[in-house]
Amino acid sequence: MVSKIIEKALNEQIKIEAESSQIYLSMACWAEVKGFEGVAGFMFDQSQEERDHMLKLIKFVNERGGQAKISKLSEPNVDFKTIKEMFEMLLKHEVYVSDSINELVHITLQEKDYATHNFLQWYVSEQIEEEAMARTILDKINLIGDDKGGLYLFDRDIQQLTVVSSAAIQTGA
Ligand code: FEO
Repeated sequence: MVSKIIEKALNEQIKIEAESSQIYLSMACWAEVKGFEGVAGFMFDQSQEERDHMLKLIKFVNERGGQAKISKLSEPNVDFKTIKEMFEMLLKHEVYVSDSINELVHITLQEKDYATHNFLQWYVSEQIEEEAMARTILDKINLIGDDKGGLYLFDRDIQQLTVVSSAAIQTGA
């Protein structure tokens, strides 16, 4: 059974994950319209992942005797100057999500809710991976600079790049 305090904190996280999904969906649309098919595909996948993060929390709250709350969401940014700016915003957003998860973990310890604490460990690991992936992508973008050919190849290879980066994280390479 989750306490009211934990239920409220988890519901706030549900909203953050839902907003993350919308933010990446908006980025996907921008990228698709600008002709960056690879980046768009990556962002559509990210958006789906965030929806899965949200659903996992919803199921947990409902199964633990609480009720998940579906909230009104903020409208995401729809325009970006460059691919670089977009990925900088993605990294900034993931750092914000990590801070929010950390705060949530802190509350579970204060409340002595070890079941929720244990459940949240998956999110702690996921955030390490997502931040690392965003930094890997930004490193590549910084290497490319203003090289249009480089950007073309980056767009073509982004899905592969992220698969490699998350595999490296899992094996500690
Ligand atoms: Fe669900 Fe990317 O945080």
